[in-house]
Order: sequence, then C-alpha cells, then structure tokens
Amino acid sequence: MNKPEGRIFFGSEACETMHHYFDSCFASGRMIFILVDENSRKCCLPILLSNCDLNQYKFTMIEIQSGEKNKTLETVAFIWEQLTIGGADRKSVLINLGGGVLCDMGGFAASCYNRGIETVNIPTTLLAMVDAAVGGKTGFDFITYKNHIGSFYQPSGIFVFEEFLKTLEIRQIEAGLAEVIKYGFISDQSLLEKLYGSKTETLSFNELIQICIHAKIEITTIDPNEQGLRKILNFGHTIGHAIESFALNREIDILHGEAVAVGLLCELWLSVKYKSLDSNVLNDYILFYHYHFSHLTYVFENANEIIDRMMLDKKNSSGLLKFVLINKPGEPIWDEVITNDGVKECLEFYNTLKI
Ligand SMILES: NC(=O)c1ccc[n+]([C@@H]2O[C@H](COP(=O)([O-])OP(=O)(O)OC[C@H]3O[C@@H](n4cnc5c(N)ncnc54)[C@H](O)[C@@H]3O)[C@@H](O)[C@H]2O)c1
Repeated sequence: MNKPEGRIFFGSEACETMHHYFDSCFASGRMIFILVDENSRKCCLPILLSNCDLNQYKFTMIEIQSGEKNKTLETVAFIWEQLTIGGADRKSVLINLGGGVLCDMGGFAASCYNRGIETVNIPTTLLAMVDAAVGGKTGFDFITYKNHIGSFYQPSGIFVFEEFLKTLEIRQIEAGLAEVIKYGFISDQSLLEKLYGSKTETLSFNELIQICIHAKIEITTIDPNEQGLRKILNFGHTIGHAIESFALNREIDILHGEAVAVGLLCELWLSVKYKSLDSNVLNDYILFYHYHFSHLTYVFENANEIIDRMMLDKKNSSGLLKFVLINKPGEPIWDEVITNDGVKECLEFYNTLKI
C-alpha cells in the first residue's frame, strides 16, 4: 500500500499497514519525520518501532516539549526549522506520535510546510485517540487563546494502538473520559451506560475508542468545515475552552479534558434551564463528575473574565454567545444564544458544587 488514504487502522492491522507505509516511502525515496515529545519518545516510540518492525528504516526524529503551555507559534516554528534542517521536501511525510497537543501542532506545521506535506497521526492519549487525531482540525494557542490560529488539514492516515494507554497517567485517562462522555450526550447514548458506575480501570477502552471515532467520522464527513452539524462536537467546549484559556493565562493547573468536564457540567445545566433536558441527566453526570474530577477545586469568582474569553471564541460572533445544548442525550442543537446572565448562573451553579 502506497498511502494509508485517510483511513483509520487499529492494533495489528495498524502495525502491518505502518510497516508497508514505511516500506513504500523508503522505496520511493520519501523522507520520514517523526514528531515526538519527551514522553511519547520514551513511552511510545520504542513500542511502535519494535511492534511494527520499523527499526531497519531511516527516519528523522523531531522532539518538542510536552504540554499545552508549549502549544505555541514558537514550537510550530521549531518544527518547521527542524524539517528544513533535515532536508524535508514536498514528498516528505510528518508522523505525529503523541497526544492532542502534538497532533494539533504537527498537523498545522505539515499543512503549511512547502504549502502542505503529507501527515499521519498516531495518537498516544485517550483524548487524542477519541477526538484530537481525527477530523482534520489543526492549530496552536495564540496569546493564551485556545487554538486561535489553525487550519483544516486531514491526515492521510490515523493509526490507533490502545496499548499506549498503559503508560498514561490516570489523570490523563480521566481527562480523556470527558471527551468520551461528550459523544454520549451528542451522539451515541449507549456510552453513558458504559461509563456510569464503572471504575476507570474496568472500562473497555477499545470499544469506547471505536464508538467515539465512528461518531466523529460520521459527523465530520457530513460537515468537514464546521458550517453546521460539526458544531455539536463543541458541546462542553464553549465554556470549557474559555476556562482553559483563563487557566493558561493564570498558570492554573487544569487539563483540556478537565476544562471540558467543567464545561459539560455548565452546558448540561443550561440545557435543563433553557431546553427540555430532564434534570436526571444532569444529576447522573454530576455523580460521574464527582467520581472522576473531584480534584478540581478552582472556584470562578469573576464570571466576566470567562465571558470575555468566550467572546473571542471562533464559535461566537457579533457579540453573541452561542452554545451547543441538548434536548436529550443524542439530540443536540447548535447556535443557541445564551445571555451573559445565563452564563453567570451556570458558573455559580458549578461553584456551589465545590462548597
Ligand atoms: N483537533 C481536534 O479536533 C481536537 C479535539 C480535542 C482536543 N484537541 C486538543 O488536544 C489537546 C489535549 O490533548 P491531550 O489531552 O492528549 O494532551 P497532551 O497532548 O498534552 O498529552 C497529555 C500528556 O501525556 C503525555 N503522553 C502522551 N502520550 C503518552 C503515553 N502514551 N504515555 C505517557 N505519557 C504520554 C504527553 O507528553 C503530555 O504530557 C488540547 O490542546 C486540545 O485543544 C484537539
């Protein structure tokens, strides 16, 4: 096989296809660059190389520093610099081996380098497997605004190896669960039953990953450039992204998935208040939230700071705050305008849970 052609491969099939891919790149003189951070280099690269029998192939490794605080133009420029020093040309390929931060930046760097080179995602966190590596959104944070600069650029293939989760910290797994449960609210409600009442270590990650990827592909195939339906993937993110930007600016320790977990809580509350969502759906989620995210103790005292950040979100325009809300699990609606007072109230509700 010459090119994985935008497909998604799992486990042993992923290994076999990756091996053929390296083979064909090597045979046709294409240079391979593998983007890693210090954690994916240590925990994932050796497994990838040995399991897929890739040790005999020559490639150039580009290592960046992990973490959302490094999801910056400087890091993207460093990737371009390393591609240039390494002699990358239009036929070269950039393989992104890492979490959502790395896949977003690698995808963006590839989308611009030489006006676009081929890129492949190998997600190594739960969050990247179920969401970030799929769908073609790339980018980086700019002056602490989340994903402020970016592009739509599809990877030519996505390779999912569940075993990478073995070295991932439990906090990172739980952050990924926030994106998993999001799909339960907007798309496949069977996920709610699978998640509620289950301990993290007993979850069937393979099944969860497949369900989420299936949902994301279905949605992004219908609406690749977020003109309508794709907006539902932002459930929990209007408030979540504002909280994450706020936290980045203040150096408060909150992961992307954790900010989304708070955002889901607030946006479910708004769905009960302004739509027809049964309050039991919110109550069940609160139990799930307490189980996985009780370590989040930050209280938002000044809602205006969050609202100001929301105003700069790409999803909002003309001074209106637009949300995805749900009437019931599996029935999302987008472009729902909520007033500043509505946002303040839902943040107050979140604050009361902390007391
Ligand atoms: N493009 C999209 O559609 C999309 C969707 C959702 C989220 N995102 C983005 O994804 C990012 C969050 O991604 P994330 O949660 O994967 O965070 P991350 O990329 O920061 O990874 C989390 C941490 O785990 C480490 N790590 C990665 N794989 C590991 C492994 N197998 N073992 C041990 N450590 C490992 C990383 O080095 C990092 O320190 C955010 O920037 C968010 O905006 C993008």
